[in-house]
Amino acid sequence: MKLPFAIAAAVACLALNGTAFAGAAEDIIAKEKCSKCHTATTTKKGPSWASVAEKYKGKAEAEAKIVDMLKTGGKDDHNKVAASDADLKAVAQIVLSSK
Ligand code: HEC
Repeated sequence: MKLPFAIAAAVACLALNGTAFAGAAEDIIAKEKCSKCHTATTTKKGPSWASVAEKYKGKAEAEAKIVDMLKTGGKDDHNKVAASDADLKAVAQIVLSSK
């Protein structure tokens, strides 16, 4: 019974975030080729975003941490992303809502 839950989660996600959510963040993810190293659910060069979401589950600072990492490259010299805080937040939300 995995599928109905996934659909329910996706619908809940859309309902919560409304239409402003998709656009810019999705564009950034496509433009920066995050998918070269990440997918939502499988480990490639980088961890799956579902595993990142799991790691940060229940942590209030998760979004800020990811925004900061994407801005500065973090301690592991991750790919930097030049975008507004609002857009990076939306990217972080996509990562954190992966399952
Ligand atoms: C060249 C490969 C590569 C690309 C491109 C890449 N990543 Fe990563 N990413 C990694 C690796 C490797 C790690 C694990 C080590 C680290 O944290 O830097 C990681 C870790 C992460 C994490 C987890 C950080 C944490 O605190 O656990 C997030 C979130 C993330 N990436 C998001 C993104 C996003 C969003 C993009 C596109 C804008 C992106 N990555 C593009 C390789 C990549």
